[in-house]
Amino acid sequence: MTAQLDTHTRLTSSASTRLATARGWAITSAVLTFVATSRVRTNPHAAYRLLRRIDRAHRSPIGLWVLSGHDDIAAALRHPDLGSDESKADLSLLRPASLLRVAAPVRGGPFRDLVPNLILFRDPPDHTRLRSLVNKAFTPRAVSTLEERVTRLVHERLDQLAPRGHMELLSEFAYPVPALVICELLGAPASDQTVISRHAPPLAARLDPNLFRGAAVSAAADQAVVELTGYLTGLIGERRRHPGPDLLSALIAAQDGGDRLSHDELVTMAILLLIAGHETTANLLGNGILALLRNPDQLERVRQDPSVDHTTVEELLRYDGPIQMVQRVTLDDVEIGTNRIPKGHIVAMCIAGANRDPAVFHQPDRLDVTRTPNPHLAFGAGAHFCVGAPLARMEARIALRALLDRLPDLRLTETKVRWRPSFTIRGLRQLPIEWRN
Ligand code: HEM
Repeated sequence: MTAQLDTHTRLTSSASTRLATARGWAITSAVLTFVATSRVRTNPHAAYRLLRRIDRAHRSPIGLWVLSGHDDIAAALRHPDLGSDESKADLSLLRPASLLRVAAPVRGGPFRDLVPNLILFRDPPDHTRLRSLVNKAFTPRAVSTLEERVTRLVHERLDQLAPRGHMELLSEFAYPVPALVICELLGAPASDQTVISRHAPPLAARLDPNLFRGAAVSAAADQAVVELTGYLTGLIGERRRHPGPDLLSALIAAQDGGDRLSHDELVTMAILLLIAGHETTANLLGNGILALLRNPDQLERVRQDPSVDHTTVEELLRYDGPIQMVQRVTLDDVEIGTNRIPKGHIVAMCIAGANRDPAVFHQPDRLDVTRTPNPHLAFGAGAHFCVGAPLARMEARIALRALLDRLPDLRLTETKVRWRPSFTIRGLRQLPIEWRN
């Protein structure tokens, strides 16, 4: 009897070892394929699903931890021992060494000098100080006073486009509208939107942690930083002499117990607002319109009922939001769920995967414009929660309503679409659409 039990235990334990090994291999190949193959990144939801199902807190073979479950990520984003300052990572933990190219602390050159100073990559006490100053300028009231202006900008754009019966949504609407709104925020003339449209994309491309990035991407980002610094220095001087009702004037005036942003901090903050407010909002509109056009019942529901505009924007952020991942470094050994992540590790958090976690969202792969509650993580969580969330929500709501009201029988011109192969931002290369005019 004992011999029988021993045999049974041996068989069971070798079966479970084989199962664990098979799961390990499945995840290892999924992570490697995701990192190395741009085509997989253009349609990442299958990879996120696999990660979530097999290993929600995965120590990958390249030394990165990858979190994909909603509860783990929500907890990790609020954990005081998970920091955003990447220079605190122990890079010797990464394999192969070529990963150093994307993860190494950035030093030297205009872009490399800028990045460590962005609020996104600061930890307390620097982050607390910067955030408190930016919060003083970026108030809900400041955002709500923009609403009328955003509505006017959107409709002026559509006055030009609607009679045509077709457009390429991204270049003709989704990118120009947020660029105009940022000009408005900074108190810059609308004609300066070309400065933003020209320089924000190379900066966003350089921020993407792409292993196969070419030298041209770095050179374009350096050039963008130099030109934007010159442009913003002029604009800040102008706003100091003639303050207006804009956010830049509010940032200049913001005080916290006698503390203010220095000139360099103002330029750095304005550059981040410009990158963060442009690519993200543009791709929320692109991904969102595509999702609605591919789900005609939901499109019809929104078209007929403006009372669901708010829940629609939240659902589009959840279903196919523009930011796929955020990254942290363990400042100490950290317990996440049942896992202990040692100090010094880089932790990639797949917020787009968390947003389709069936443990939190009923039928997560279904677009439901009335979904409530909708605790998505598209704007992050915790100390670095998106400063611009109220603005992005307002812009998206106004733009979607205007597009649906003014472009009857809206449809895709081509059924096949092409996605950009980036890690962080999910966005389309183009979205040609047409309507009855
Ligand atoms: C759909 C649009 C947007 C999405 C999905 C989005 C998403 C995010 C996410 C996920 C973070 C947190 C990053 C992290 O935890 O590491 C973040 C931070 C930030 N966002 Fe947004 N964002 C959007 C629009 C905007 C806009 C319009 C602005 C401003 C004009 C903005 C400004 C910022 C800033 C300054 C931070 C850094 C906050 C900090 O580090 O404390 N974002 N955003």
